[in-house]
Order: sequence, then structure tokens, then C-alpha cells
Amino acid sequence: MCDQSLGFGLKEKYQSLDDVDVTVLKTIELEEKRIGIAPLEYLETKRKISYSSLMNSIKKLLDLKLIRSENTSFYGYKVTYAGLDVLALDFYFKRNIISDIGDRINTGKESDIYISILSTGEKSIIKFHREGRVSFRAIKRKRSYNTKNMRSWLHLAERIAKKEYVILGDIWKNGGLVPTPIAYNRHSIIMSKIDGVELYKLKMTDIRTIFNVINDVVKTLTIAYKQVKIIHGDVNQYNILVSNEQIPKGYIIDWPQYVPVEHRDAERLLRRDIEYLASYLHKKFGLDLDREEVLKKIKGGS
Ligand SMILES: Nc1ncnc2c1ncn2[C@@H]1O[C@H](COP(=O)(O)OP(=O)(O)OP(=O)(O)O)[C@@H](O)[C@H]1O
Ligand SMILES: [Mg+2]
Repeated sequence: MCDQSLGFGLKEKYQSLDDVDVTVLKTIELEEKRIGIAPLEYLETKRKISYSSLMNSIKKLLDLKLIRSENTSFYGYKVTYAGLDVLALDFYFKRNIISDIGDRINTGKESDIYISILSTGEKSIIKFHREGRVSFRAIKRKRSYNTKNMRSWLHLAERIAKKEYVILGDIWKNGGLVPTPIAYNRHSIIMSKIDGVELYKLKMTDIRTIFNVINDVVKTLTIAYKQVKIIHGDVNQYNILVSNEQIPKGYIIDWPQYVPVEHRDAERLLRRDIEYLASYLHKKFGLDLDREEVLKKIKGGS
């Protein structure tokens, strides 16, 4: 069997679908959300399209690995992460939020990041959440998400994307240095692209830049604590981006694991965030950050 998905990027997969394919994919998504799988008989009765075009679409979606078949109590189909990506892209393109999607710039354990072009011409990024990629149950254990009423990874990934979008907006509106959230759909978010490098790539050449970045990071953590009433919970050298503006700024990214300040682990997590940052700065740049001073600043906001 020829594997049509090989060599096909996300954009090509999206472009190779027609309206019927997208409708069939959406129907599978909805039914999977409702009962956990989209049985073939259901698809046959549900859509006002001929049996042959339904089967053509299903074959295409399977070849492109946008859906997969499963034969448990029913023979049916489930959407893959790639399928969900394509549906989110369809949303962004049809609403003229983006005019193009480019390369994948990062593949993480819990997300894939693509460059996208907004309809205004500006560069942005799309973060596609991938939480269930490790294991849905492991995620439920590890994270503090409320997983009640969440039957599947589809619900979980959507919930996390929305959570990240909303919190970015709250921090950004209060003046914190985070990417500007632009839109979200399903398991994905569009946000402004920070042109720069992660903190771990910064060289010890410009001490002023390093001090500016530390100030920016502490300022954003303070806004998050005082105004938005949350703690990031995963501050590290990969989640701090240093912009390449004339005066470089330090942005904090990757917020979905945040916890509210009233959470029983909040104090411990805040101390841990500060500890990670301080020990990294010490190891890499030989700088000594006064942990208690920073803690006081964040909590007191002065
Ligand atoms: N707004 C942005 N602008 C520029 N680059 C970004 C942006 N958001 C994310 N990135 C890049 O993508 C990487 C991963 O993003 P993020 O930390 O949000 O996802 P993640 O789920 O933590 O992924 P990982 O599993 O790799 O940690 C970042 O380290 C950064 O290099
Ligand atoms: Mg990260």
C-alpha cells in the first residue's frame, strides 16, 4: 500500500483535502468525543453523501494518517493528532486568521510548534498540544488538571490549549512579558513569535542583557503572582526566551501547568521555580541570585 502520509507536511495534508473529506473528518471527531469512537454504520447513516464518496474520504483520511481504524466493540474510526491539527488549521484558514503555515520549528514531548503567517502578514507560531502523546493516564496523574468529565485525550488537549490561551491573555493584559495570544482552536493556540533564543543558548558576552532578562523574568512572575494570582510551576532555561530586540527582553513561555496561588503546593512550586532559575544562573554565569529576596519581591510586588 502506498503511504501517502510520507513526505507530506501538515500544510500538504490540509491542502489535499476537499470539503467532503473535511466534513467526514469533523463528523468522526464529533462522534469520537460523544461516544469514544465513530462507528462506520453511524457515518453511513449520518452524512448526506453517497456511500462511495464516504468510502473514498475514509480511505484518503486513513492514508494521510488523519484517522485510524479500531475494531473493539464496534468497527470504527478515531481522529489522530494530525487529524486534529488539520481541523484546527481549517478553522484558522477559513476565518482568515492565518494566510500560511510554514515549518515545524520544535517538537517537544508535549507540543509541536509551527511557524504561521497571520493575515496581517506578521509571523506567529501555532502550538499544537500533544499531552496524550505520552500517556493519557500518566498526564492525569502528573498534572493538576481537573479531569472530571474528560473521557478522552481530545477533551484533555483542548482543555489545556484553552487554559494556556486564557492565562497568556491575563498575564499579557497586565503587562507581563509573554507571547501575545492571538487565537485558539481545539488543541492549539496561535501566539506572537518571539524572535530570539532560549536562555540556555545565551552566551556570557553581555552581562547587561543577562541582568535585563532576570529583571524581566522576575517582573513577569510578580505580575503572575500579584495580578493574575498564579505560579508558573516550570520556570527553566528552555521556557525563557531572550528576544533579539535592540534591548533584549526576557519572555516566559509554556504556562499550561500553572497553579493558583491558593493551591496547597503553590509556595513549594514558587520556591522551586526560583531555585531552578538561581542555580542555573549560578552554574552558567556564576551569578548569585538572592532566593529570599526574589521570593519577597514576587510575593510583595515591590
Ligand atoms: N511564542 C514563541 N516564539 C518563539 N518560539 C517559541 C514560542 N513558543 C514556543 N517556542 C519554541 O518552542 C519550544 C517549545 O515550546 P513550549 O515550551 O511552549 O512547549 P513544551 O510543551 O514545553 O515543549 P517541550 O516538551 O519541548 O518542553 C520553546 O522552547 C521555543 O523554542
Ligand atoms: Mg517548554
